[in-house]
Amino acid sequence: MAELVGAYFTSHVPGIGGAIHRGDQETPYWKPFFDGFPPVREWLEAMRPDVAVVFSNDHGLNFFLDKMPTFAVGAAAEYRNADEGWGLPLYKSFAGHPALSWHVIEQLVADEFDPVTCQAMLVDHAISIPFELAYPDAAEWPVRLVPIGINTVQHPLPSARRCLALGRSVHRALASWPGNERIVVIGTGGLSHQLDGERAGFMNPDYDRFCLDNLAADPDALTRHSIEEIVRLAGTQGVEVLNWIAARGALGPAAVEIHRNYHLPISNTAAATLVLEPV
Ligand code: DHB
Ligand code: FE
Repeated sequence: MAELVGAYFTSHVPGIGGAIHRGDQETPYWKPFFDGFPPVREWLEAMRPDVAVVFSNDHGLNFFLDKMPTFAVGAAAEYRNADEGWGLPLYKSFAGHPALSWHVIEQLVADEFDPVTCQAMLVDHAISIPFELAYPDAAEWPVRLVPIGINTVQHPLPSARRCLALGRSVHRALASWPGNERIVVIGTGGLSHQLDGERAGFMNPDYDRFCLDNLAADPDALTRHSIEEIVRLAGTQGVEVLNWIAARGALGPAAVEIHRNYHLPISNTAAATLVLEPV
């Protein structure tokens, strides 16, 4: 039987990659953020996952405004990183797990979701940065990847309720998977931030706390807000919390918080890190 060991959530600001590259982890600006990661690393070391099911949003590397799937599931044997224009180093590739990807896709379609299936897919900073934070010394990533992309970019976006339901469908897939893998679920992005327009730089600690306080015990609380309300509360890019909501659904019905860190600003973002375990 496969085992779902828990869930790791973190912001994915590209500037984090620059800080790692420069070795700025201990500087006053970055230390309060990076101090949130030793407990994540210890937890991963104890849990030893060998597969990661990652919910994130593509930022233009695979999909642009001309073609934007609401939900996309990777089913590739390998996922390469590519230059997105942030000036970051190229990050390590991931091995895929196509059989598990197709099992997830089968369950999603059986549950009446209509994902785009991607047998070729690149990974952007939304996946590479969370792994650089979690496994800073890895020569190669210790997990195989099942990436699930959610449109948080081009409106109309899927509702929070729909994303939680998507995650719950993925949970059903993981629960019926006959392999003996140790699986970690990951949600990346958020929390509140806005990169564009009149409110550029907007962050909202009250809404972020509401999300962090409810994600483990009552994720449905996060689905009470419409997309328009989430944009108002979290900012235009803060809607990346949809990735967290879907990942929480994939963790299963009951969860307990193991670790939390919250610090702002990191670039334009209120940066949060969270580890949950299933009960
Ligand atoms: C920033 C945050 C993001 O989520 C992102 O994808 C790009 C940039 C930022 O705060 O700089
Ligand atoms: Fe982002």
